[in-house]
Amino acid sequence: MADKKIIAIVGATGAQGGGLVRAILADPASGFAARAITRDVTSEKAKALAALGAEVVAANVDDPSSLAKAFAGAHGAFCVTFFWDHFSPEKEMAQAKAMADAAKAAGVQHVVWSTLEDTRRWVPLTDDRMPTLQGKYKVPHFDAKGESDRFFTASGVPTTLLLTSFYWDNFISFGLGPKKGPDGVLGITLPMGDKKLPGIAAEDIGRCAFGVFKQGPALAGKTVGIAGDHLTGAQMAAAMSKAIGQMVRYNEVPPEVYRGFGFPGADDMGNMFQFKRDFNADFCGARSLEASRALNPALQDFETWLSRNAGRIPLE
Ligand SMILES: NC(=O)c1ccc[n+]([C@@H]2O[C@H](COP(=O)([O-])OP(=O)(O)OC[C@H]3O[C@@H](n4cnc5c(N)ncnc54)[C@H](OP(=O)(O)O)[C@@H]3O)[C@@H](O)[C@H]2O)c1
Repeated sequence: MADKKIIAIVGATGAQGGGLVRAILADPASGFAARAITRDVTSEKAKALAALGAEVVAANVDDPSSLAKAFAGAHGAFCVTFFWDHFSPEKEMAQAKAMADAAKAAGVQHVVWSTLEDTRRWVPLTDDRMPTLQGKYKVPHFDAKGESDRFFTASGVPTTLLLTSFYWDNFISFGLGPKKGPDGVLGITLPMGDKKLPGIAAEDIGRCAFGVFKQGPALAGKTVGIAGDHLTGAQMAAAMSKAIGQMVRYNEVPPEVYRGFGFPGADDMGNMFQFKRDFNADFCGARSLEASRALNPALQDFETWLSRNAGRIPLE
């Protein structure tokens, strides 16, 4: 361990960070070691990472002194925030700043910051094609991440901005799986029109991040977008139908209908999908499948992901 480059990983018991921990541990010859950061080292998930061989340390991104300890001696840091735990862009930005400051203070040589576009660069607040949310955002969970890029850039720590994509795992655990319509036919509902939605297996985000750390300084100061496939709603529904053995239809709805669905964050998600639909060339163009596969040769496309996970998709 002593001679290995330690990567301190925020969100290690979660989707993105967990993928990175497992990617590092699966490649012991790489010269990297995984330091998994969790708020609770005694949780089952934390113990499972320790059993796999990760160093597990306690820190809370709301507590700068704990972050300083968790980043001490690390070569790299993977930084991610948790919008859906609190729905607060301001909190997300404060946490991002705390991580950037801690990385700087600890002398970390390479940060991978898991970010998304600040959509206000495309849709200023004066543009009323979509409502302004929480007073000063169009897509709060995107804008807060994009606005936070500057904390990392200003810190001077060599940072790669990793633009992530929609997790297909949302079809399993985020309530976006197929639902039966009045006619009993399953459908996935997205306000994407006929445009393509870049998607990725959540596990592959961490694997791509590992690819970034392996490339090292060449990718510092760069923005890297990742996706496993770019597919329309109709293409995803067709692939899902084949994988689960029953018809899944694509229900195309307008963004304003989606925003009104009433679940927590429906307005944010409706704006997000509208942004991806209306600026589709930019959004897809920023997420090269070839570059993602170069970082992570095991990258799954949607069909591969379905072949491994279709049985876990709840059919309601
Ligand atoms: N769903 C999507 O399609 C999608 C796509 C792109 C980006 N995103 C973004 O991904 C982010 C979430 O990442 P994820 O899905 O990897 O998260 P996740 O699976 O929900 O896991 C988050 C982990 O972070 C830890 N955590 C939470 N609050 C913490 C705190 N205050 N201090 C330290 N650790 C904390 C928790 O671990 P412990 O309980 O062990 O501390 C938890 O296991 C969100 O900001 C979201 O916007 C999501």
